[in-house]
Amino acid sequence: MCGIIGFTGGRNAAGVLLDGLAELEYRGYDSAGISCFTQNGITTVKTVGKVANLKACLPPGLNSSCGIGHTRWATHGGVSQTNAHPHTCGRVTLIHNGIIENYLALREELEKTGRTPVSQTDSEIAAMLIDSLYDGDAQAAIRAAAARLEGAYAFCILFADQPGTIYCIRKGSPLVACHCEAGSIIASDMVALLRYSKDYFVLEENQIARLNADGIALTGADGTPSFPDYQTVTWDVSSAQKNGFKHYMEKEIHEQPEALSRTITPRIIKYHENGAVYTLPDFSADCIPDSVFQKLSRIIITACGTAMHAGMMGKVLFERLLRIPVTVDIASEFRYQDPILDENTLVITVSQSGETADTLAALRLARSAGARTLSIVNVKGSSIARESEHVFYTHAGPEIAVASTKAYTAQLAAFYLIAFRAAFANGRLTAAECSARTDGLLSMIPSIHRVLEMKEVTEKLSRHLTRASDLFFIGRGMDYALSCEGSIKLKEISYIHSEAYAAGELKHGTLSLITADVPVIALATQHDVLPKMVSNIKEVRARGAFVILVTAADAVVEESQYDYRIDLPATDDWFAPFAAAVVLQLIAYHTSYLRGLDVDQPRHLAKSVTVE
Ligand code: AGP
Repeated sequence: MCGIIGFTGGRNAAGVLLDGLAELEYRGYDSAGISCFTQNGITTVKTVGKVANLKACLPPGLNSSCGIGHTRWATHGGVSQTNAHPHTCGRVTLIHNGIIENYLALREELEKTGRTPVSQTDSEIAAMLIDSLYDGDAQAAIRAAAARLEGAYAFCILFADQPGTIYCIRKGSPLVACHCEAGSIIASDMVALLRYSKDYFVLEENQIARLNADGIALTGADGTPSFPDYQTVTWDVSSAQKNGFKHYMEKEIHEQPEALSRTITPRIIKYHENGAVYTLPDFSADCIPDSVFQKLSRIIITACGTAMHAGMMGKVLFERLLRIPVTVDIASEFRYQDPILDENTLVITVSQSGETADTLAALRLARSAGARTLSIVNVKGSSIARESEHVFYTHAGPEIAVASTKAYTAQLAAFYLIAFRAAFANGRLTAAECSARTDGLLSMIPSIHRVLEMKEVTEKLSRHLTRASDLFFIGRGMDYALSCEGSIKLKEISYIHSEAYAAGELKHGTLSLITADVPVIALATQHDVLPKMVSNIKEVRARGAFVILVTAADAVVEESQYDYRIDLPATDDWFAPFAAAVVLQLIAYHTSYLRGLDVDQPRHLAKSVTVE
């Protein structure tokens, strides 16, 4: 969604805001703007395009110590300077991340009072509402407006008659803040604060923060003072930089061995039983008791996009080991299906950002229905993490590229660990069996390094894809779940249409689209279905497809059936998805780069979709 930032303190506000917006740009980059208190009142500069465009537009000598900044992912209203934030109405200047669902009704009401919006945005209507309620008491005006607003918002607000002060409030969209040597800073995401402080706090829902150079005052929804719960971020600034890679995505693909190790190894214990020592997953430090996984009638995994694809792999693992029904639901569908939930249902939400609006809404529905809830989240203190009964944090580190890579494989690792622990806790795996699988998971990590050495091969074969208009991914079981992930990865950054297909289903219609040189990426990592996969590869090959085969080194497939073959490092089939995922990530990365596209910030997308 959008990136917002506010600063007041002893530095040049425009510089702080621009630096912060550059860090937040992955959240949306249609247009950008800042507003600062100057000796002439509030000065606003905004433009279409990226933060670099905004920087070029700034008037020389914009001297200010207090201001707000915004980088936009358009929801209401097209991409235009008028629709760019900040928006000023009367004495109120505001930036917004979220969606006001009842803005049309409010707009009609406010227009009747003679006010005339100039933009097409819901955000301007929020500013107009607050201004209409403002009589000098900023907090009262904000509270009164919040009572009228429906939807999600994170606001930073300037009142023309209160120079040096920023007011903020959030509902459903994230805000983190800190007071440090530089002053008081608030933003959508910690990456914008990191260069000033590793200590931060998360603004609570409906809390009002009043920032000035001396500090941040908080008041709760009931108007009484409240106090920040400061946390310390565990990664450093370089974690959120490119560190010599061309793109964040390339860096994050290469960080996967470390991300997997950080996610897996702290949860591995030595378990003693009958004189033997076993390697088992353990979630005591996560405060996730075995009881969460016992006496379950079913599991529902709900998420969006890549996170949902990780859930598809979780389904395969859980059903194999726990022998209970598992469904995977797209979060935006789940919440409107009136799902059947009870205390014996475990709802697992998966989210890298922990702020995806549809996934958060699905979690809230699950909790209201009395289901058990567990979330797999990468951002500490995020909304989904805070609202789940139990949280399994992936420790992938900040993921900046819009296309998720290290977070995805860390989510896979989370599902493997949870499946193994839950099976052991339910007597489905003995300690010895659980230990063998856990050792297999640990031994997978080094194999990722060998896949990363395949960059040249994946780049070479990607050259055959750059001119494709349609491309298909096929696989069975785990490989079908992986095909779905490979397809979204390629689509979202190369803009080439692709489809993931259960390999056995292709002949029931879509095979008609397979003609000469249509690229088909066939995932055949699972030996138990290899013969069937070979038949499906022959079906597409017979229609002239350009076949890229991703398989195990010992798989027997006639050379005439493929154009490129990528042999994965030797591993148990159970763990093949990790290496295969990295191959698909590299293919998507190279294809996008070879097409000269913006790998990290593809058009129309944002890293975290905090609107429904
Ligand atoms: C991943 O490559 C996509 N950018 C997107 O599908 C993403 O996975 C989805 O929006 C969910 O985001 P979340 O994990 O932060 O909830």
